[in-house]
Amino acid sequence: MAGLDLKYLLEEPTATAISYYNKMRMIDSTIMVFDLGGGTLDISIAEIKDGKFDVKSVCGDAHLGGQDFDEKIMKYVIEKIKKSFNHDMLQQPTLMKRLRQVCKKAKESLSLQMESYNLNLDIDDDTIVNVKISQSNFNQLCDDLFDRAMRMVELALRTAQISAEQIDNVILVGGSTRILKIQELLSDKFGQTKLRYNANPDEAVAHGAAIIANALEV
Ligand SMILES: Nc1ncnc2c1ncn2[C@@H]1O[C@H](COP(=O)(O)OP(=O)(O)OP(=O)(O)O)[C@@H](O)[C@H]1O
Ligand SMILES: [Mg+2]
Repeated sequence: MAGLDLKYLLEEPTATAISYYNKMRMIDSTIMVFDLGGGTLDISIAEIKDGKFDVKSVCGDAHLGGQDFDEKIMKYVIEKIKKSFNHDMLQQPTLMKRLRQVCKKAKESLSLQMESYNLNLDIDDDTIVNVKISQSNFNQLCDDLFDRAMRMVELALRTAQISAEQIDNVILVGGSTRILKIQELLSDKFGQTKLRYNANPDEAVAHGAAIIANALEV
């Protein structure tokens, strides 16, 4: 790096784990950080013993994040409108951009325990279409994405050579961990009491990095 003396490379989820540990003053424990953001999934498992961090596994999917969930809703709406109005939205870039925004809004609203969301979109000057998306609709549409996320959890555990029961805390980071089904699946796997929602992702990464920098006396 230009003009900088590189001392240490720290992965984001690991920095989050360190920050969380530091804030909670936890005794010996095993932590999984599950960070599902806008475009990527990052998972890391670390064991803390006598104040020392042993990172057991770091893995992820660089192509799994919030926008994939948006695109599932988009595809569903495009097909519905094609069927009902014989209108092909794919040929209208401006409309597609608006569709992306409303689908993101629909997804985020469904995380607020809403039973269903009514998506409205004006496809031309005198046609406003309404598409209802229920929670179970959404879960079905995104089934393969949920599978991929949980398969990555399995891989992280396998790489670390530990079982789900051995994880003491699962730290949820990233906007997409607000998706209810993601929380439900992690709760089923690890138990509701192990899920921790209170890490601030941006702050946590910087905070963890600062702790390491201090320890390294950079
Ligand atoms: N209430 C919500 N329900 C579902 N998803 C949400 C909610 N709030 C935010 N998101 C999603 O979180 C994502 C952004 O998360 P975050 O800010 O953690 O991403 P990022 O750090 O920029 O991305 P990445 O880590 O992938 O590089 C967006 O896809 C957004 O739609
Ligand atoms: Mg992120």
